[in-house]
Amino acid sequence: MRYTTALLSLAALAVAQDCVSSYDSCLLSKDEPTCNSELASCKNQCAEQNDKCNQSGAGSAVCQKSYNSCLNTFPVIPGGSDCVAKYIKCGESGLSEATCNAQNAVCKDSCTNINSACLSSGSADVAACTAQYNACYYSTSDVITLDTVAKYQNCLNAGTNVTACNAELTTAKDQCTTIQSTCLVSGSADEAFCSSLANACYYNGTQWTRESCSDAFNACTKSDSECRAELTNCKDSCTNAQASCQTSQTANATVCEALGATCYGSKNDPITDPNVLAASASASSTFSSVVAASTGGYTYSNGTTAGNATSTHTPVVYTGAASKTGVSAAFAGVLGVAAYLL
Ligand SMILES: *[C@@H]1O[C@H](CO)[C@@H](O)[C@H](O)[C@H]1NC(C)=O
Ligand SMILES: *[C@@H]1O[C@H](CO)[C@@H](O)[C@H](O)[C@H]1NC(C)=O
Ligand SMILES: *[C@@H]1O[C@H](CO)[C@@H](O)[C@H](O)[C@H]1NC(C)=O
Ligand SMILES: *[C@@H]1O[C@H](CO)[C@@H](O)[C@H](O)[C@H]1NC(C)=O
Ligand SMILES: *[C@@H]1O[C@H](CO)[C@@H](O)[C@H](O)[C@H]1NC(C)=O
Ligand SMILES: *[C@@H]1O[C@H](CO)[C@@H](O)[C@H](O)[C@H]1NC(C)=O
Repeated sequence: MRYTTALLSLAALAVAQDCVSSYDSCLLSKDEPTCNSELASCKNQCAEQNDKCNQSGAGSAVCQKSYNSCLNTFPVIPGGSDCVAKYIKCGESGLSEATCNAQNAVCKDSCTNINSACLSSGSADVAACTAQYNACYYSTSDVITLDTVAKYQNCLNAGTNVTACNAELTTAKDQCTTIQSTCLVSGSADEAFCSSLANACYYNGTQWTRESCSDAFNACTKSDSECRAELTNCKDSCTNAQASCQTSQTANATVCEALGATCYGSKNDPITDPNVLAASASASSTFSSVVAASTGGYTYSNGTTAGNATSTHTPVVYTGAASKTGVSAAFAGVLGVAAYLL
């Protein structure tokens, strides 16, 4: 009799299916509503098999075990990758935010469905189901390879319009917010992990490798107004990069400030330095009083120094300015000194 019972329960197990695994496979090739409907049928079949198992006299412990494994085997996460990892991959593959958000919504739904399937036998291993539920949203090995600053630099380095890069940066920051909220969605998530993941998404140590704004201004050969406009744009991009670095609640402010400083370059530029700004506004008369300067300091013709002045450097020539229409050679020479002040 025992032998027969064993055979019967084995028979029940033989036709058993793992609804969660089937659902997972389904999602790879079919749409969510279709898979949800297949999942519902699968759960019904498990319940029917459980009834048969009960009637076979196999014993409720054996039937329960069979029922649970019919519904779910562990661990299963949708499509072999959790929602956060999928979302990161989606963003980094260049798909649109809308597409990635839609995929993420489906992924999160599927986690809910997996969890409810896991729990539907009524006597499931709740702890295992919860662990599976969290793993469905995120895995502790999720890694973000491109933080917002890296993405922003890539955009700017590609010569893309600054307005467009700023929009991309906003999107990238939104993605970090979504990554964190997806990570946290189960309600029993590892908050410290989710927070460090979001932090790394905003800024994970990427160095600023673009030419500093002051160096770029120094090398600018366009008209004074164009160079100043470019400098303003450049400094805005530094402000944006630094702000993005600092967005996370756990950001290291010192590190973000250092990032900004590398981006700005010398603080002495014609926009922020009142001496230079005034000189520029009143053109050549004031400019001519500046005879030598080095990064971080100035020497005026009357011998007064400001900052770490030195006169040992040859001023950088503001090439190109003299050839611009409306810019006199004298003014161009003056600008050469102004550029050197950077
Ligand atoms: C059938 O089996 C389940 C466990 O697998 C048990 O909880 C339930 O009480 C059983 N039903 C009957 C009618 O024996
Ligand atoms: C940060 O990036 C590095 C690689 O640049 C990676 O090894 C590390 O895991 C990342 N940190 C997080 C929390 O993703
Ligand atoms: C960027 O492009 C937009 C539209 O394509 C345009 O309106 C804007 O002036 C451009 N900005 C810069 C800085 O070139
Ligand atoms: C911030 O980063 C700096 C430089 O890496 C480090 O010395 C400092 O301990 C960090 N601060 C915090 C609060 O982690
Ligand atoms: C002035 O020089 C000192 C020593 O070289 C340096 O620490 C300081 O940062 C410089 N200040 C400016 C404004 O460049
Ligand atoms: C020297 O010239 C600079 C710049 O014009 C001015 O700020 C400073 O006050 C002058 N110093 C003296 C002693 O006149």
